[in-house]
Amino acid sequence: MKLSSFGEKFTSQAGITSLMDDLGNALSSGSDMIMMGGGNPSHIPEVQERFRQRLADIIADESQFKRLIGIYDPPQGEKEFISHLCKLLNKLYGWNLTERNIGLTNGSQAAFFMLFNMFAGEYEDGSLRKIQLPLAPEYIGYADAGLSKDFFTAVQPNFEYFDKHTFKYHVDFDKLHITDQTGAICVSRPTNPTGNVLTDDEVVRLDKIAKAHGVPLIIDGAYGTLFPSLIFTDATPIWNENIVLCLSLSKLGLPAARTGIVIANEQIIQSLSGINAIINLSTGSFGSMLASDMVKTGEIISLSRDVVCPYYENKAEKAVKLLGEGLQGYPYLLHKPEGAMFLWLWLKDLPISNQELYERLKARGVLVVSGHYFFPGIDEDWQHKKECIRITYSQDDDMVKKGLSIIAEEVKKAYDNL
Ligand SMILES: Cc1ncc(COP(=O)(O)O)c(C=O)c1O
Repeated sequence: MKLSSFGEKFTSQAGITSLMDDLGNALSSGSDMIMMGGGNPSHIPEVQERFRQRLADIIADESQFKRLIGIYDPPQGEKEFISHLCKLLNKLYGWNLTERNIGLTNGSQAAFFMLFNMFAGEYEDGSLRKIQLPLAPEYIGYADAGLSKDFFTAVQPNFEYFDKHTFKYHVDFDKLHITDQTGAICVSRPTNPTGNVLTDDEVVRLDKIAKAHGVPLIIDGAYGTLFPSLIFTDATPIWNENIVLCLSLSKLGLPAARTGIVIANEQIIQSLSGINAIINLSTGSFGSMLASDMVKTGEIISLSRDVVCPYYENKAEKAVKLLGEGLQGYPYLLHKPEGAMFLWLWLKDLPISNQELYERLKARGVLVVSGHYFFPGIDEDWQHKKECIRITYSQDDDMVKKGLSIIAEEVKKAYDNL
């Protein structure tokens, strides 16, 4: 079969494709694989009960049910949800948003595809621009989202060490160069895969740099402020006309509802809605309708802060403790888990690569993700890329415990050359 450049690019093996394949195959084969690879959120009973109730209320109401299944929303997204969110954000943060500042997409992944290709790639004047990641490791799902090649550029981070086994990445502002080939700056906060949360100071500096160069700063808050608040450290939400804040209902517990939220200046939202109309006609209303009353009352914030955040923080603490016990006496390093649902394990000078470790773990029934996928925009051969793995701790405690003990065993074997 002959394919266009688009066809070739989007069908060749991408990191996100093999990750989703691995997850799908393991789940559908009914195997006993321990899933510590994907970004599937936990099934938190209190959250699920809340949505179950809301769904029952919608089904019981003739006109709401019609809206749920029988009406195309405008390409900008479900109006009522947008209006509630706009009021909530203005009340909480005084951002002076209007409804024209918010657009919904079918998952935030789709928003990134549209935004990245709006700002990077070929421009009318023939110039080429890229998405600048202030640091990598960054989210695997960005890596293949460009319509053209060489879409990203990233900077190696600075390392801060807290003790023998804990470190944190920081943006290396000395190395961050914004040029006339930069289309936008993008960062996830908290970061997938590391659980890093950029400090307020770092975000303010990035905001200033972006403004000074006339490029938008895209902040991916899929795990973050404002909701679902998988953040275990202080982080102030930030928005202004130059910031494109992307949120999602997925990690709150609705990944199947595919609801992404973009908060940006009117021009960006209008353009995004236009692209959305061409690609999708309209955005699905399921997620926005399920969450609409929670946004109206502000419960989405309290549920995130009082239920979701402590739930994951507790899981993170347990996972760090278990892995630390399992790897006692070995030179492992963990990124300080400040948010999201991952441990980022750095195995310095491990005699095998992270891909090989991934294979060994898969053979033992544990799925993690090899860290080398998470360096979009860093092309140089950097040993660090081969020394890290991402471990998801969102599954049931028993599974996580079992998985971490197998991971520790395999890491020790590798260090001991067994
Ligand atoms: C950092 C980050 N951003 C965006 C997404 C996309 O999420 P969704 O399309 O479900 O909103 C994910 C999914 O795992 C993610 O980890």
